[in-house]
Amino acid sequence: MSLLDDLRVTLGSVAVLAGDSIPPRHLSDRSATGGRVPLAVVRPRTVAQISAALRLCNDAGVAVVPQGGMTGLAGGGNPSGGDIILSLELLRGIEEIDTAAATMTVWAGTPLEVAQEAASEAGLFLALDLGARGSCQLGGNLSTNAGGIRVIRYGMAREQVLGLEAVLADGTVVTSLNKMLKNNAGYDLKQLFIGAEGTLGIITRAVLRLHPPPGAITTALCALDTYEDVVRLLRQAQGNLGGVVAFEAMWRDYVAYNCEALKLQLISGDHRFWVILESTCDGAAVEGFLAGCLETRLIADALVAQSHKEARDFWSVREGLSTEALPNVVVFDVSLPTARIGDFAEICRAALRQRWPGAYVFFYGHIGDSNLHISVSAAYGPGEDMHSVDQLVYGVLKGFGGSISAEHGIGTLKRPYLGQSRSPEELALMRKIKAALDPKGILNPGKVI
Ligand code: MLT
Ligand code: ZN
Repeated sequence: MSLLDDLRVTLGSVAVLAGDSIPPRHLSDRSATGGRVPLAVVRPRTVAQISAALRLCNDAGVAVVPQGGMTGLAGGGNPSGGDIILSLELLRGIEEIDTAAATMTVWAGTPLEVAQEAASEAGLFLALDLGARGSCQLGGNLSTNAGGIRVIRYGMAREQVLGLEAVLADGTVVTSLNKMLKNNAGYDLKQLFIGAEGTLGIITRAVLRLHPPPGAITTALCALDTYEDVVRLLRQAQGNLGGVVAFEAMWRDYVAYNCEALKLQLISGDHRFWVILESTCDGAAVEGFLAGCLETRLIADALVAQSHKEARDFWSVREGLSTEALPNVVVFDVSLPTARIGDFAEICRAALRQRWPGAYVFFYGHIGDSNLHISVSAAYGPGEDMHSVDQLVYGVLKGFGGSISAEHGIGTLKRPYLGQSRSPEELALMRKIKAALDPKGILNPGKVI
């Protein structure tokens, strides 16, 4: 019998899609760099089915590519051709909310927003949040150790996880659904799977940490004239105002482009930097703090959102769907020491514009987390493609001691550059761990390392 026959017999034929019945959404993530056709898409409903499917694929030596909501930007969920896609989308739902422990036990295919809403209905707060919340899935969020807009206050996805269940390449199920904040009994195995992009095991279930709800949040938009002022504002907001739950900076061109596309007029005047500042302090406290910043000329102008709609408008500029729709757009998620981000952006912009004079080059990001996004849309010359942009940006980054990935992960797209951010010893240890957990190399080959 062929592998497909075995999978159909074991999981039921409705769980195995092949040929024309494969929906196009399984062919590429948001980087739009996929397109290769897998052997089949397998959609298990239980952990036992995932274990059985992996055992069969491992025996047959056929590669398995796990998929969540396909909102990634690094190609990590894309098929390489002839492989088995393991979609977690039917393994979804909240298994339990434990209000005493303040935890949620959730299946990997659950959309992030569904989990956020369930936490909120239980009077608690799931701190992980990112623009793709409606379509991304928790298994993918954990596999990439997603960041997002609340990292400055609550940390990355990794920090929200207390327990995990994962299935190894040979089908072994490792269930470690710890709910306790403190548990030092040996190696913290869950960390092997978080951020491993499905190369060491398939995450099936997680115990997430919940928090007390932050209460009402005040959202402000500030205009500033220097990058140094942006950093000063961050530190003063943390020190003098407090309750900072988001701090997002945007460079002038990014704001202008998105405001124009969205037909939004927020603050008049031409300012080089814009910051969205969110705090759990009330409107009066935020206004008082910003009035002080205006007086000392730390900021040039500010607007405190008076309604949910106004706050949404600020965020719609930041989410930048218009810039994302530009042709050939490449999105970077580098990190580098906070104080150096301003200089890096200037040098990087100049180098990109010199090479592609008409290119769109936008800078924005989670500055409080040392994480800068760059979106580049260039018209390539002969022999050039998106990798030419990668080479240039990572070349500039080298001089700044930064990381090639702050939050989106390595996938296929950043794999050639991993050695720039990790030492030979680190890479050798990664390979040893990979070989120990997945000796036949069937789990998401060609990704990360
Ligand atoms: C963001 O912060 O907006 C994301 O990490 C990048 C994106 O989704 O394009
Ligand atoms: Zn981001």
